[in-house]
Amino acid sequence: MPHLFDPLTIRETTFLNRAWVSPMCMYSAEDGVIQEFHHAHLGAFITGGAGLVIVEATGVVPEGRISIGCPGLYTNEQAEAFTPIIKLAHSYGVKMGIQLAHAGRKGGTTRIGIGLSDHMIATPEEGGWETVAPSALAFEGYPVPRELTTGEIKQLVKDWADAASRAVKAGFDVLEIHAAHGYLLHEFYSPLSNHRTDEYGGSFENRTRFLREVTSAVRHEMPDSMPLFVRISASDWTEGGWTIEESVELAPILKELGADLIDTSSGGNVHNAKITVGPGYQVHFAHAIKGITGVSASTVGMITDPQQADEIISSGKADAVMMAREFLRNPRWPLMAAEVLGVKIEWPRQLTRGKKA
Ligand SMILES: Cc1cc2nc3c(=O)[nH]c(=O)nc-3n(C[C@H](O)[C@H](O)[C@H](O)COP(=O)(O)O)c2cc1C
Repeated sequence: MPHLFDPLTIRETTFLNRAWVSPMCMYSAEDGVIQEFHHAHLGAFITGGAGLVIVEATGVVPEGRISIGCPGLYTNEQAEAFTPIIKLAHSYGVKMGIQLAHAGRKGGTTRIGIGLSDHMIATPEEGGWETVAPSALAFEGYPVPRELTTGEIKQLVKDWADAASRAVKAGFDVLEIHAAHGYLLHEFYSPLSNHRTDEYGGSFENRTRFLREVTSAVRHEMPDSMPLFVRISASDWTEGGWTIEESVELAPILKELGADLIDTSSGGNVHNAKITVGPGYQVHFAHAIKGITGVSASTVGMITDPQQADEIISSGKADAVMMAREFLRNPRWPLMAAEVLGVKIEWPRQLTRGKKA
């Protein structure tokens, strides 16, 4: 069985190791364009030894952003702003991914993450918008969204493809479709937020149709050599919601449509889900998907310890470990983790004097 610092090849892309940076909203873009801050933020992960860095949720349309400060990929300018950072990553052998997202009914917020506002929903004057969703059902504390028409859904599939095409041109190595955490695609496949009666609601097949269409459309824009990931919420942790059994059913269907890895997260679609949180609390979801279907899976969630991360890989529960908050605390976590595990890895030449041994 492989270990945390063993390389992983998916299609024709080889990742130096399996310690990956999970996407994290930074609420610091202007008109959807990343800024100097993003260079410092992503640059620290790049020089910190992660095998893959995935850029935060990035709107495929303006109304697809989570906040008024989230990046977008609906203009060429937004895409081109990533090119220098991708170049930097490649100079260190690090792969760069980007998460293509639509926030649905949980969009249109202020820059919530960085305490710049005393209210959560952005007004039109601040650049806010009317949100959309499969059904006119609000998430707790958010406005009631407008139900999307069938025509609008079909247009969004094209918008996802256009964003994918821009990301490919910008030089990204991996694309990830954000279908988790109560955002638009999750809202469609979860019966808790989708009460439609047309071909996009009701049965498992209908609820997953939008995600399947987006997956095919995005794959179509990508070279064969390039991996496609889909982040799902493997469970709503709520009676009557989406289940791990349905996730296990969905994974091979997405694989058939060209997805290579299921980035397995959970929750986010209802405010009162009863989630049992603890170190590695979502590992069993990735393990179920990988173990039952054979489809590659990554895991995320309260993984902080090198031995814990290594055990997840060496026991075959997941193919890669994603981490978010631990990377905020220590962007160079992989360099430290390799030392703890006694694995020799190449440090960026500028940092070698920081080595213990
Ligand atoms: C500041 C912050 C921003 C986040 N933004 C995103 C995002 O853009 N897309 C996403 O899928 N998950 C996002 N997440 C969730 C993380 O990617 C991750 O799944 C979650 O934090 C659990 O991992 P951790 O325990 O290692 O932090 C965010 C988490 C944090 C802390």
